Amino acid sequence: MEKSNEIEDDDDGPNAFVEKEIEGVGRVLPDDGPFGRVLLPKATHAWELPLDVLPVPADWTTVYGRSAPLVVEIGCGGGRTIMSMATAHPEWNCMGIERCGEYYRMMRDRAERKQLPNFRCGRIDAAYLIKQYFTDASVQQYHIYFPDPWPKKKHLKRRLFNASFCTELKRTMEASGTFYFATDHKDYYSAILPLLREYFNVTEHPDPWEDAPKGRTNFEVKYMIAGRPIYRLYATQK
Ligand SMILES: C[S@@+](CC[C@H](N)C(=O)[O-])C[C@H]1O[C@@H](n2cnc3c(N)ncnc32)[C@H](O)[C@@H]1O
Repeated sequence: MEKSNEIEDDDDGPNAFVEKEIEGVGRVLPDDGPFGRVLLPKATHAWELPLDVLPVPADWTTVYGRSAPLVVEIGCGGGRTIMSMATAHPEWNCMGIERCGEYYRMMRDRAERKQLPNFRCGRIDAAYLIKQYFTDASVQQYHIYFPDPWPKKKHLKRRLFNASFCTELKRTMEASGTFYFATDHKDYYSAILPLLREYFNVTEHPDPWEDAPKGRTNFEVKYMIAGRPIYRLYATQK
């Protein structure tokens, strides 16, 4: 993944990029809320979430064919990190959520090569998916790394983290669950730290992750090589 941290979405909305592709192969919901027009692509492979036919709330036991701890990476880019977790932990059900078509296609290629039975991915806005489909206390781990910081004032409302998103993370995380986060963007980190503390017990983790001293994700590896400071934390239920 060679792009900068600033991935420009089309100004027509975050889902504009898939509108053409989805015609005839999925469902488009009307624009009747904060998420704009929601696109629910049809799954074409076993490792894709069947978004167009997913019941509300989703039944992950049916989707994965078994009951297991659910580990979700949001904004997973090409899916390298979440698929590594799925490989290292066959006992977990792993899910990668990515809304950008370019990255999703990379994830699709990787998933097709790896054919991991405990991995599923979906091209959709993660905040929408979680709010609409996830039941209470259903996620064992959330991973969110280098979310787009949207530093321009007029774009601040596009940030993933806000009170509503934190409420949904908290609602859907198991009592023993953990949420892992990293960013290179100091202002974003400073802005969300007090917000997260309202919802979770937060532990700052400035050092590299023990299991991945060179970085857990493509962005982390790239920025560590470049010598940029990285701000990491994990959070548990209060
Ligand atoms: C800066 S990249 C980081 C990619 C990866 N996490 C890493 O650390 O290498 C941020 C990613 O989050 C995705 N993203 C941003 N907001 C999202 C959302 N609401 N739902 C799903 N994906 C999102 C973007 O499309 C992009 O691929």
